[in-house]
Amino acid sequence: MRAVYPGSFDPVTNGHLDIIERASKMYEHLTVAVLNNIRKQESSLFTLEERCAMLLECVAQYPNVTVDYFEGLLIDYMQSKNARVIVRGLRAISDFEYEFQINSVNKKLCPDIETVFIMASNEYSYLSSSIVKEVACFGGCIEGLVPESVKKRLSNKSEIK
Ligand code: PNS
Repeated sequence: MRAVYPGSFDPVTNGHLDIIERASKMYEHLTVAVLNNIRKQESSLFTLEERCAMLLECVAQYPNVTVDYFEGLLIDYMQSKNARVIVRGLRAISDFEYEFQINSVNKKLCPDIETVFIMASNEYSYLSSSIVKEVACFGGCIEGLVPESVKKRLSNKSEIK
């Protein structure tokens, strides 16, 4: 069965990679689908190309994982790829309301597509791309929060300095 793990990945964190690794063992094929939000492009720190490149480097070790991007509705993308499972990571209770809303909208749009939630591992339960950007912005240590390649790219970003 094919599954899709959608997100902004701005940037990919070790929490995302934990979900990717675990989901790659559950499905024949996993596509990590990066949202190209054309209405909010300026709100991303990394461009779509940068976000996809970072992910590509990180998933090279998993033969059944590919990286792609999408625009518009996730459900339309799912249908274009003939995929029926959306994978999402779930951290604390605070994620639940947001995920509940997304799941409900997606169910309304396409009842055949299921969302499977994978609980974040304990060590990543607090981790988000926003937290990483905030810590990096103030020069804090992001060791262990993101892969080395992402760490390098973050330190080269003048916008967060
Ligand atoms: O990493 P994120 O930002 O939490 O991911 C959110 C994402 C990309 C899964 C969600 O915003 C999304 O699917 N956007 C595409 C537009 C869409 O389908 N909207 C309807 C459901 S909210």
